[in-house]
Amino acid sequence: YRTAAATATVPTFLLVGPSGGGKTAFTTLAERNTTTQTHTSTTPLTVSALLPFPHVPASSHYRSPGDPAFERSRRFLLLDTPGHGKLRHHATSQLTDAKSIKAIIFVIDAAAIAEESSLNDAAEYLHDILLALQKRHTMATSSKGPKEVPVLVAANKMDLFTALPEGLVKKQLEKGISEVRGRRARALKDGGAALSGRDDEVDEEREWLGEGGEGSFDFGMMAEVGTTVDVLGGNVVSGKEGGEVGKWWEWIAEHL
Ligand code: GTP
Ligand code: MG
Repeated sequence: YRTAAATATVPTFLLVGPSGGGKTAFTTLAERNTTTQTHTSTTPLTVSALLPFPHVPASSHYRSPGDPAFERSRRFLLLDTPGHGKLRHHATSQLTDAKSIKAIIFVIDAAAIAEESSLNDAAEYLHDILLALQKRHTMATSSKGPKEVPVLVAANKMDLFTALPEGLVKKQLEKGISEVRGRRARALKDGGAALSGRDDEVDEEREWLGEGGEGSFDFGMMAEVGTTVDVLGGNVVSGKEGGEVGKWWEWIAEHL
């Protein structure tokens, strides 16, 4: 049975995504309500944050603002991870080791992914995160299965005129992930043919993200493994009026 301490656990939102997307900038905003100059991260960092007003945690919709449980439910932890390609194990190990991740926020620079190489890098990273969630779901032995882990793609830097709009960010990422998926499958097949092992087909199935078949990938396919993917625009910092991340707060509120 659960102890009081276990039920009082503060939910953790895991921040992932390519280097330079704005993870640490958002972490600073959430923790201190202001932004400062950030430097590229080399280690993970956990901060404690409060959901700002007027957003209301989904778990508190029927509570009154004076209720201590209402105030408690506004608390959450943000786990900021380094986006550099060689340091992504800090983030991915959280998905395999820890069971306590409530949700994942994948932060990207919506202007940078207009470039092919940045899009590829982002798509590979997101593909690997989603595949890890899929494996967690399909390999779970408990009859209840693991909790559903929703993913927010936070399309950041919307203040830049070169930023792609939300809908296009979604399309581009789905296209990029389709390509990653195809490349990975071909590599596995070629490797498998060389080794002629017997478990090839099982591996290929396990490593294939989303539904089978040769069609293209879309985020809706993740529903089957208990994961919703939402793409919402925002900007953590901007020249004039400070950040605009209301849609992200609202998403966090819905999952708190
Ligand atoms: P790594 O730690 O390397 O993984 O990167 P990160 O995702 O933590 O990026 P970080 O928060 O350090 O932000 C990178 C740069 O983008 C910083 O110079 C930020 O000031 C800038 N930045 C963050 N958010 C925005 C935004 O909404 N608009 C603009 N124009 N710049 C932003
Ligand atoms: Mg950082």
